[in-house]
Amino acid sequence: MINILITGAAGLLGQYLTKHHKSNANILCIDLAENPFPELSNNIFIQADLTDFASLRKEISDFKPELIYNCAAFSDVDGCETNKDLAVKLNIDLVDNLISIPHSKLIQYSSDYVFNGKNGPNTEDDQVDPLNHYGWTKMQSEKLLEKSARDFLIIRTNVLYGTGNNIRPNFISWVIDNLRRNQNIHVASDQFNNPTYAGNLVGASIEAAGKHSGIMHIGGSDYMSRYDVAVKTAEIFNLNSNLIGPINTAKLNQPASRPLKAGLRVDKAVGLLKTRLLRLEDGLRLAYKH
Ligand SMILES: NC(=O)c1ccc[n+]([C@@H]2O[C@H](COP(=O)([O-])OP(=O)(O)OC[C@H]3O[C@@H](n4cnc5c(N)ncnc54)[C@H](OP(=O)(O)O)[C@@H]3O)[C@@H](O)[C@H]2O)c1
Repeated sequence: MINILITGAAGLLGQYLTKHHKSNANILCIDLAENPFPELSNNIFIQADLTDFASLRKEISDFKPELIYNCAAFSDVDGCETNKDLAVKLNIDLVDNLISIPHSKLIQYSSDYVFNGKNGPNTEDDQVDPLNHYGWTKMQSEKLLEKSARDFLIIRTNVLYGTGNNIRPNFISWVIDNLRRNQNIHVASDQFNNPTYAGNLVGASIEAAGKHSGIMHIGGSDYMSRYDVAVKTAEIFNLNSNLIGPINTAKLNQPASRPLKAGLRVDKAVGLLKTRLLRLEDGLRLAYKH
């Protein structure tokens, strides 16, 4: 069986990856948070701080990972503006450290926020120009990989949704939770993306990791505004869409600037992968089916 290291294994994407590999790989999982799957027997889980890489290097090297999925990140976009040092340590320095683990292919998750949102959705060949610190750290980590001699695949994705044990809220779960509690919400009608079901991203990532290197965009197949995503979510789960009001991003006064016409062109993945990239409606039904 192949040896796979999954960093950030207790996060949204990490949990889908770990579950997917539960019977076909030896997995070393590392996360700050507790093991969400204590019942899995092929999974060694280390609860540790990946910014202290020196204390983990021997354990990782001894495990001899053939594949590394780097899902650990400081992914709170506004938090990255106020804690820039941590964003650098986790989103850049960790990648640098993982590059130094020999004989492994590194799968790095990046973001549509490496682009400026002026003319999205963007292709893999478009010029990067991040508007905020999170996007800047993701761009820097991409540069480290591109100038390394390692086999790598950078997967840029956007607006992940799905479920898991003790995961932090994502945009879709925030919409659902508020509407279920009959709370009014204001949702940006000028921010565009292609929301991505984490389970679908995992299927596509695993296929891509086996065959491709370089940069690939993987996201949902519907490109729409966050407001329209929220309304569609309400419709699918029979929630009250009258509670959702449109708002302009400028009025939200968020610490980090947001790219507006963001999102990803996924033509390359559609052409190269057998895994079908899901429409929002199909992803939502799969993610939240009860
Ligand atoms: N979510 C999105 O919409 C989105 C969009 C584009 C790209 N991405 C990228 O996709 C990847 C996965 O995202 P995700 O949504 O699955 O993220 P996530 O749910 O925030 O998971 C990240 C995991 O990393 C852990 N972590 C954070 N700091 C750590 C540290 N110092 N040491 C060890 N573990 C640490 C977190 O633990 P704690 O929760 O305990 O901090 C969390 O379990 C990231 O690279 C992200 O930047 C995500």
